[in-house]
Amino acid sequence: MTAPIRTAPSVFALSVRGATKRFGAVVALDGVDLHARRGEVVALLGDNGAGKSTLIKCITGVLRLDAGTVEMDGRPVDAGSPAAARALGIETVYQDLALFDNLDPAANFYAGREMTVPRWLPRGLRLVRRRAMAQATENVLRRLAVGVPDLGAAVGLMSGGQRQAIAVARAAAFATNVVILDEPTAALGVRESRHVLDLILRLRTEGVAVIVVSHAMDHVMEIADRAVVMRRGRTVGELVPRPENREQIVSLIVGGAG
Ligand SMILES: Nc1ncnc2c1ncn2[C@@H]1O[C@H](COP(=O)(O)OP(=O)(O)OP(=O)(O)O)[C@@H](O)[C@H]1O
Ligand SMILES: [Mg+2]
Repeated sequence: MTAPIRTAPSVFALSVRGATKRFGAVVALDGVDLHARRGEVVALLGDNGAGKSTLIKCITGVLRLDAGTVEMDGRPVDAGSPAAARALGIETVYQDLALFDNLDPAANFYAGREMTVPRWLPRGLRLVRRRAMAQATENVLRRLAVGVPDLGAAVGLMSGGQRQAIAVARAAAFATNVVILDEPTAALGVRESRHVLDLILRLRTEGVAVIVVSHAMDHVMEIADRAVVMRRGRTVGELVPRPENREQIVSLIVGGAG
């Protein structure tokens, strides 16, 4: 009797192999591999200019890879645009282009994916369901305990922490497979950081694969299951972020002798 065929034990939610990207003479990515499982938080570490944001932008369709492949659940995908990445269940909080300042939280949540009726009409002719979007956004923010003083106000008028929490909540609300956060606590105070870290941990329990770029080693130690270190466009090491590995991680980031 043959044993029943099992599915592969660890198909990665997201797998990047051989990612290569040049900007003119600058080789920003030089054959990078990165893998993330469901229910796992992977920290992507590296000094300024190591290529972290470039890698993320290539995964999420902001930039195109010159070479390399991206797979989701073992199948090759090509997120040719941010909208295509979102359709694949990948949500991103970018380091620089996080939110539309002139729009309120609901409009930010649903930008490019508005709730519209009736469905039989071409999209451009449908009515936008603003009340429903506002209600759904309010529900998500309440569920995630993100406090926003005025849901009708443009996010540009809100504090850095509130804005960041809204961007993370949006990613949490829509992600089905992968959430990528590029320095989500960089501009935040202690309390606000705490909140974003809790949101990340909640995503992990929901079975999402989470990739976090961060320079905050304490945060990495607390939330990451695995740390992948990049230097000059290459992956130079991977380890479990534990206090006893701290020095090793730092020397991988800055690059020792040789
Ligand atoms: N649009 C671009 N045009 C030209 N060069 C770029 C562009 N984006 C990034 N680079 C270059 O690619 C390299 C990697 O940059 P990247 O932003 O990915 O670094 P990073 O690891 O995110 O750094 P940081 O920690 O400072 O955010 C750098 O040398 C940078 O100058
Ligand atoms: Mg960056």
